[in-house]
Amino acid sequence: MAIWNLGSINIDHVYRLDHLPAPGETVGSVEYSLGPGGKGANQSVAAARAGAHVVHIGALAAQGDDWVLDRLQEDGVDVTHIARLPHSATGHAIILVDSAAENAIIVHAGANRRLTEQQLAGALSGIGPDDILLIQNETNLQVEAAQLARKAGARVIYSCAPFDVQAAQAMMEHVSVLAVNAHEAAQLAEAIPGDLPVPAMLITKGAEGAEYRDLQSGRAVHQKAFPVTPVDTTGAGDCFAGYFAAELDAGRDLAEALRHAAAASAIKVTRRGAVDAIPEAAEVLDFLAGQDRAG
Ligand SMILES: Nc1ncnc2c1ncn2[C@@H]1O[C@H](COP(=O)(O)OP(=O)(O)O)[C@@H](O)[C@H]1O
Ligand SMILES: [Mg+2]
Repeated sequence: MAIWNLGSINIDHVYRLDHLPAPGETVGSVEYSLGPGGKGANQSVAAARAGAHVVHIGALAAQGDDWVLDRLQEDGVDVTHIARLPHSATGHAIILVDSAAENAIIVHAGANRRLTEQQLAGALSGIGPDDILLIQNETNLQVEAAQLARKAGARVIYSCAPFDVQAAQAMMEHVSVLAVNAHEAAQLAEAIPGDLPVPAMLITKGAEGAEYRDLQSGRAVHQKAFPVTPVDTTGAGDCFAGYFAAELDAGRDLAEALRHAAAASAIKVTRRGAVDAIPEAAEVLDFLAGQDRAG
């Protein structure tokens, strides 16, 4: 049993500013921080901290940025299938945050979107029927990966984020679970009315919790969000998806997997940052025990 993740790896550069620059304006930064990010890396770290064996499939620039791999490895993520590509930059995001917490973000996909089919096929040659493949929209080769995984009998959980209706349409027939947040679900419903041609959907709804819908049986499992005071919701959905997959991989039922994922994301939103804010399994268990005691 393992989680495979075809996922982006970004370096997030976060600049805190008094105000966001207007065209032609230069604004000094009051604070700067650097850390690993990208939806793929976030989901891999979440699944690994949840206790799963995680194999990340992705790419970085040919040179430098070794610290990013080190960070993933510190969490136990298998980085063997992270390629180093010449003539590409490591994916990165320039995140500007002003004093009112408004942001402006530039993302450069770089190596994340330059994986080759050969690399993908080589990496996924080891996936089996008890495994889960995670996919998001920040790499290339999503459809090819989903097809390879399904052929091997694995489950595919696809997060349609950042939202892209064409990507969703291309992926639907190849996924086991389509994961979206409420905003993405509304955009999908507008673009494609009626039931979507996927076996199941995972819909996260921020402070309203989450819902797993089995579209074949019509059964839905609901999970309330845990009441916390959020300070930074960056990566909440990634934390949820990674934990959810890891808990299913560990053999938990849907209700338990949703509960653990909701607890992990509740802890995540109380902390600043993406990867760094994702809790370890022990913290999640403590949090749930505290919730049970509180009644
Ligand atoms: N304010 C909050 N309080 C408690 N839990 C939250 C809060 N915001 C998000 N979460 C948890 O994180 C999950 C994912 O958040 P959501 O906003 O739906 O995803 P995304 O990050 O993709 O926008 C939610 O289903 C919930 O469990
Ligand atoms: Mg949200």
